[in-house]
Amino acid sequence: MEIKVTRTDSPKALPADSSTLGFGKIFTDHMFMMDYTEGKGWHDARIVPYGNISVSPASTAFHYGVEIFEGMKAYRKADGSVQLFRPIENARRMNRSADRMCLPQFPEEDFIEAVKTLVRLDEVWVPSDPDTSLYIRPFMFGNDETLGVHAPKNVVFMIILSPVGSYYKEGLNPVKIMIESEDVRAVRGGTGEAKCGGNYAASNRAGDRAEKKGYSQVLWLDGVERKYIEEVGAMNVMFKISGTVVTPALSGSILPGITRKSIIELLKKEGYPVEERRISVEELAKAMAEGTLEEAWGCGTAAVVSPIGELNYEDHVYVVNEGKIGTLTQHLYDTLTGIQWGKTEDPFGWTVQL
Ligand code: PLP
Ligand code: COI
Repeated sequence: MEIKVTRTDSPKALPADSSTLGFGKIFTDHMFMMDYTEGKGWHDARIVPYGNISVSPASTAFHYGVEIFEGMKAYRKADGSVQLFRPIENARRMNRSADRMCLPQFPEEDFIEAVKTLVRLDEVWVPSDPDTSLYIRPFMFGNDETLGVHAPKNVVFMIILSPVGSYYKEGLNPVKIMIESEDVRAVRGGTGEAKCGGNYAASNRAGDRAEKKGYSQVLWLDGVERKYIEEVGAMNVMFKISGTVVTPALSGSILPGITRKSIIELLKKEGYPVEERRISVEELAKAMAEGTLEEAWGCGTAAVVSPIGELNYEDHVYVVNEGKIGTLTQHLYDTLTGIQWGKTEDPFGWTVQL
């Protein structure tokens, strides 16, 4: 893949204070773009100054939500170098999402080359303060100029970059989560395991309701029986019940998180009991009532490992671990962030130098 680079002639000022970064509010100087045309394949790989793009108002992305995305990060190490975390997993997951949404496959090696080339060009934007990183958002959308509903023949793939701090304003302090019993996020056979924009659009109503009641995000139940725990809005979820880590099995309606996969591999390496299985909300409520729910946390690229301090189910409030971060949650946070920021050795070979 040959990437044509057009540098900006007016670089923006870097953020003065990394404590105000938040999540996804500012963007770097450049972005990657590439087009796909049926019969021609992927072509015109280019890096251009970050800015608005011109898209037809008839584009299928607007009308039918033909869109998928990924989320990954670049981390600044203490020696000043920059590394990525399991980028091949993002490339593979994007292709699985593409398959579900009838979008074209994007070669994995080109995905990684595009990410690396863009991050190298905007490397000064990778922040160095503790817990900050450069969030990488690859995305792909159908761009046919027609109102007919069909698999797209014209597609755009892009990557944008955003220096970020904590996803939640709470940082590593425990978050409050509302178990949602009205709306559902996904059903098996639907698009739940794909990372497509529509999943998130449909989750906003419940998210807003939870926020109004003082909760950070919702915990989704399965869409058929509304009985089994699935995942949180932007994270997978794990519970420590009587010494065993339990997380919902990938059922077809849950996003197969890379952080989830990494934590399971880490726990198994450490000899910790882990179960991937169905967990009913009754089982969870019973564990909460009996005090056997020792810890709960969410995990994802944006939020890393986020302790859950309170769960609300049908207006019953359950406080987890006295609202404090648990020992295992802290250990997982330290181990994972240690590998991601290059503070500790990476025995798994997960990190990729820029
Ligand atoms: N579940 C949802 C709905 C998400 O949006 C995310 C974030 O990407 C995750 C889980 C966690 O996935 P990952 O660890 O790959 O970031
Ligand atoms: C991520 O963790 O990368 C995500 O995609 C979450 C996002 C929806 C904010």
